[in-house]
Amino acid sequence: MDGPSGSGKSSVSRGVARALGLRYLDTGAMYRAMTWWMLQQGVDVADAAAVAARSGEPVIVSGTDPDGPAIRVDGADVAAPIREAQVTGAVSAVAAVPEVRVRLVALQREIIGAGGIVVEGRDIGTVVWPQAAVKIYLTASAEARALRRSAELSGTTAEAQQAAMARRDTLDSTRKTDPLSMADGAVELDTTPLTLEEVIDAVLSVVAE
Ligand code: ADP
Ligand code: CDP
Repeated sequence: MDGPSGSGKSSVSRGVARALGLRYLDTGAMYRAMTWWMLQQGVDVADAAAVAARSGEPVIVSGTDPDGPAIRVDGADVAAPIREAQVTGAVSAVAAVPEVRVRLVALQREIIGAGGIVVEGRDIGTVVWPQAAVKIYLTASAEARALRRSAELSGTTAEAQQAAMARRDTLDSTRKTDPLSMADGAVELDTTPLTLEEVIDAVLSVVAE
């Protein structure tokens, strides 16, 4: 399941995994965990060489339970801090560093290889697991995505969210290594006019085909 921020990847992936009794992996949380660690260490995230040099150090462990996704860095539970604005603002720069991607993609492939899983991210169908049985590309209008995100977060307006998301979308779609794009063979679902339940049902219909 790939797509831009706020298209519904996390909620839809978790719902589909629950419905089908599968595991679930949030690869964005792994990039956020790497970014959180870099910030904690005082690494300048704008300095790609500095990020690359330290990218092998943190031990990142991701859970796969759709009812309680867990993420740990060096044994610490970072589920809450990786959602903070400072991490969100820095994650696209860290995720653009090829050494970071090589390391996290290898970890993701290990988890996926154990079988039976719904995986969400930006490059799952294109790079991480192109042989996936089903590939979905979720989209939604920029306005709808910003409204959804601002409803989740306190202290932000839909306008501010839309600007921040547009910046991240541009960085994620134009980076040199594994940019966000629709995979060959993916089914595109525009979730703008749909409820969460309708999107989950639409994905389950694609799976059943
Ligand atoms: P992503 O993982 O793509 O960033 P999320 O799954 O986190 O997106 O969704 C962002 C927010 O939008 C969540 O609060 C979620 O409940 C809500 N949401 C997701 N899909 C829909 C939808 N089709 N209609 C309305 N709200 C949605
Ligand atoms: O939840 P949201 O869609 O806002 O973001 P996320 O899925 O948590 O991903 C955070 C960031 O990680 C993205 O903006 C990308 O820069 C990066 N990412 C990536 O490069 N590749 C992935 N497979 C997943 C996320």
